Amino acid sequence: MAGLFITFEGIDGCGKSTQAARLVDALRAAGFEVVSLREPGGTAISEKIRALLLDPANAEMADECELLLYEASRAQLVRQVLEPSLARGAIVVCDRDDDSTYGYQHGGRGLDEDLINTCNALGSCGLDPDVTVIFDLAPEVALSRATKGGADRLEGEGLAFQHRIRAAYQRLAEKEATRVRVVDADGGVDEVYARLVACLSDVLPQLRDGEGN
Ligand code: TMP
Repeated sequence: MAGLFITFEGIDGCGKSTQAARLVDALRAAGFEVVSLREPGGTAISEKIRALLLDPANAEMADECELLLYEASRAQLVRQVLEPSLARGAIVVCDRDDDSTYGYQHGGRGLDEDLINTCNALGSCGLDPDVTVIFDLAPEVALSRATKGGADRLEGEGLAFQHRIRAAYQRLAEKEATRVRVVDADGGVDEVYARLVACLSDVLPQLRDGEGN
């Protein structure tokens, strides 16, 4: 496809949403058409699925139901927004994608890796990111930040869950070293953003010029 598909990943509270917003602003200022998305979400149907997934009242949700709801939300987003955006040449910045399913439903929940990969192929309609950035931060720091205003259903799973997710992300980064890059998310917003710009310098050299680096 003509555009560029960038995804941001990490455990809850790692700061990736702040960094995504900043990247989107910088790219727009540089004159690019940028589509900013999040998963689960990004379409009317996907946002309804998101509400179901994050609602702490749905504590009885089975792991398989959770997996399929994430994939359903994703498939709708891909068909309705992602594919048309990339086809017309936009840069898409998506806050989470199917690597979150690998991290949370495989790493966190313990669902079988092959099953996750099969479901991800369906949910993503075969569309993989060009570049993925994992923001890595100690779960102790990240989770307390994420749950300051109250915990959603996933955040309510606690610290050990976040440790398993982080380990799964680390395995993924080792397996797919070209696409998946890891940025140290420990530090202030400006400091982490500078690391992000450096990490994307091969695919978006314009960002460096914009930062005056
Ligand atoms: P967030 O967008 O605010 O990070 O919330 C989404 C939550 O859903 C977050 O806890 C990660 C989780 N999640 C999964 O468990 N699997 C997935 O495939 C995705 C996209 C998110």
